Amino acid sequence: MLHIPALLIHALLTSTFPANAVSVAEIQGASFQSPLAGSMVQDVTGVVTAKDKYGVWIMGDSLSDDPRVSNGLRIYGSSALKSVSLGDRISLSGRVTEYRANYSPNDLFLTELDLPHAVTVLSHDNLVVPLVLGEDRTPPIGQLSACDVGPDGWLSVPNNVTLLESLNATLQPDLYGLDFWESLEGQLVTIPSPVAANFPDRFGSVWVYGDWPVSGKNSRGGLTLTLSDSYNTPYAHPGAILIGHPLDNTRNPRTTMGTTMSDITGIVTYQYGSYYVLPLTAPKILSFPTSKPEPASVVSSTHPCDITIGDYNVENMGPRSHHQSKIAEHILDFLNAPNIVFVQEIQDDSGTKNDGTVSANRTLGALTKAISKASSGQVQYEFVDIPPENNMDGGQPGGNIRVAYLYRPEKISLVPGSRIGNATEATEAVIDKEGRLTLSLNPGRIDPTNAAWEEARKPLAAAWQTASGDRFYTVNVHLSSKRDSSSAQGDARPPVNGKSAQRTAQANVTAAFVDTLLAHDANASIIAGGDMNEFLQTRSVFAALQGLLRDINEIAGVPPAERYTYVYDQHAQEIDHIFVSPAIAARGADVEHVHMNTWAQTMGERASDHDPSVARVWVCESEGEAWKEGPIANSGVEVDGQVVFW
Ligand SMILES: *[C@@H]1O[C@H](CO)[C@@H](O)[C@H](O)[C@H]1NC(C)=O
Ligand SMILES: *[C@@H]1O[C@H](CO)[C@@H](O)[C@H](O)[C@H]1NC(C)=O
Ligand SMILES: *[C@@H]1O[C@H](CO)[C@@H](O)[C@H](O)[C@H]1NC(C)=O
Ligand SMILES: *[C@@H]1O[C@H](CO)[C@@H](O)[C@H](O)[C@H]1NC(C)=O
Ligand SMILES: *[C@@H]1O[C@H](CO)[C@@H](O)[C@H](O)[C@H]1NC(C)=O
Ligand SMILES: *[C@@H]1O[C@H](CO)[C@@H](O)[C@H](O)[C@H]1NC(C)=O
Repeated sequence: MLHIPALLIHALLTSTFPANAVSVAEIQGASFQSPLAGSMVQDVTGVVTAKDKYGVWIMGDSLSDDPRVSNGLRIYGSSALKSVSLGDRISLSGRVTEYRANYSPNDLFLTELDLPHAVTVLSHDNLVVPLVLGEDRTPPIGQLSACDVGPDGWLSVPNNVTLLESLNATLQPDLYGLDFWESLEGQLVTIPSPVAANFPDRFGSVWVYGDWPVSGKNSRGGLTLTLSDSYNTPYAHPGAILIGHPLDNTRNPRTTMGTTMSDITGIVTYQYGSYYVLPLTAPKILSFPTSKPEPASVVSSTHPCDITIGDYNVENMGPRSHHQSKIAEHILDFLNAPNIVFVQEIQDDSGTKNDGTVSANRTLGALTKAISKASSGQVQYEFVDIPPENNMDGGQPGGNIRVAYLYRPEKISLVPGSRIGNATEATEAVIDKEGRLTLSLNPGRIDPTNAAWEEARKPLAAAWQTASGDRFYTVNVHLSSKRDSSSAQGDARPPVNGKSAQRTAQANVTAAFVDTLLAHDANASIIAGGDMNEFLQTRSVFAALQGLLRDINEIAGVPPAERYTYVYDQHAQEIDHIFVSPAIAARGADVEHVHMNTWAQTMGERASDHDPSVARVWVCESEGEAWKEGPIANSGVEVDGQVVFW
């Protein structure tokens, strides 16, 4: 298709206007709310660009070339518009309204002309050429709104400080994403070469970006949350846009991260808390990403100091969960059966049945048995956890999810001499009879009665020993979820980050515990990992932890765009983290995020909503010549005719 900017075409459609005529551009204005909101206007003229059962959209005559001003407008009210067709140039009167649904007080307003009347068709078959995004108008790369002030940009606390619509600022579409999409509200646009950033949501809408500059693009084609190069602010991917239900009632394709599609032409609008493009018709799939997740190259060796660590949120796993065998296969064949696995979301022995059961021995027994079976008995994990008090740790009622460790007893064992703690007892760093650091309860929960853990999973700390007699310490955490967050494209700025205050308090309690270990032994080998339900770019939440420990990605040199374990809205994001103590960091480390689930062909094929990660660290004070000379090889063993790295 030949792309002629709409501005040019309309310059050709000159006509004479009645004296009291109002243009679409005058209705839209250059700020968030219309200068004419509430007014009755007459003789508004434009060409019908799209139609649905509630009304039409028009491209105004008498165009503005101010990039802050939209030349498109929603006309709401179907009966007066029944007889108008696409391409008709019409004249009409009506009321300028700023609309948002009563039940969504955090939505942005949509400028509309409602109560349409005196509708006249002036001519038929007029051509409107859409604005081509990335050519005629290009979305900004970094920020959503000038109101997202604070050290972490759109992820800053305090949030919900400014209401965008009350401020009603003049738009700055070259700088801010919300301003950009607002400046195109009601207009027909083309998204060239769209790429899906995620699976479709439950309504079939898909986040895409087009052929324009973006930040944090990963090797799969998704958009990973990263910090700007200057490290000043987290990028918000303001140029990504939701593709809503096609106006001709065709169906959007089933995408996955990185799916490429044919160009999309549609109307820019705002609904359900976000800007959307409503396509005239559904795009076609051009390609799916072809590569499949590979088994991690991180493998363990036989050296006692060389420890591999898996981390996996196994999404509400009960004793008979259908996804258990897939998770077992992931741990075995893709994480290479790490020496220790931090798991989260292990349900009790009665699954979601709300019957007072809290033990997860059957659930964990079933998982370790599935791994054993899949390895023909070669890989035998033991497990340890502490059952929570019934229904006190949040999650699905009756599920009693908790964190747990799977570990390979031929490689490591719990430091003896302390008993296992219970749900309400706090473990502490203590010096044992040999004068060495251990835990008073092993494993034990960290400060479990602290208010920070109300309705949340308590972290499980453990002290381990290797066959060489060296010790290391682990903390497995599952911080509170982001439930009750507000839309990143909503009225409240910065957007509300649900439970961020609780996660901060939880990170602080965890950090205080780690600090006591380090106070006893500044060289302690400590690994703290798990589902933290937060991005490191929300630096305020992790300040205390990051003051003591280091993100293993930094040590391993994982490119920032490849650090993700989850995909939500348009963002590939890392919410599962592994932090290590300075002593471990000094020896170097590896980590890989294995995209078993974010790379699934469909959402239904996933075994969990999170990807697992696997890391490798050296936990002995003596560095060991082998480690210094580079990773210790594991040439694998042959099992059932296949070479495996268990
Ligand atoms: C929004 O800003 C425009 C332009 O300054 C102004 O005309 C209009 O009255 C404002 N609306 C509200 C509700 O403040
Ligand atoms: C679960 O296993 C642990 C460790 O073997 C044991 O102490 C505990 O009694 C078991 N719980 C139940 C309910 O069987
Ligand atoms: C944990 O053990 C302590 C005694 O050490 C006891 O007072 C407490 O009730 C126990 N808590 C639970 C939840 O069993
Ligand atoms: C923002 O704060 C206001 C005032 O406290 C509150 O009414 C509103 O619900 C908050 N918005 C969100 C999205 O939480
Ligand atoms: C958490 O720790 C950080 C950094 O030490 C501190 O600034 C913040 O006030 C603490 N917040 C809470 C809720 O404890
Ligand atoms: C920590 O390790 C370093 C390097 O191995 C050593 O020089 C130092 O003495 C150790 N410090 C303590 C407190 O053990």
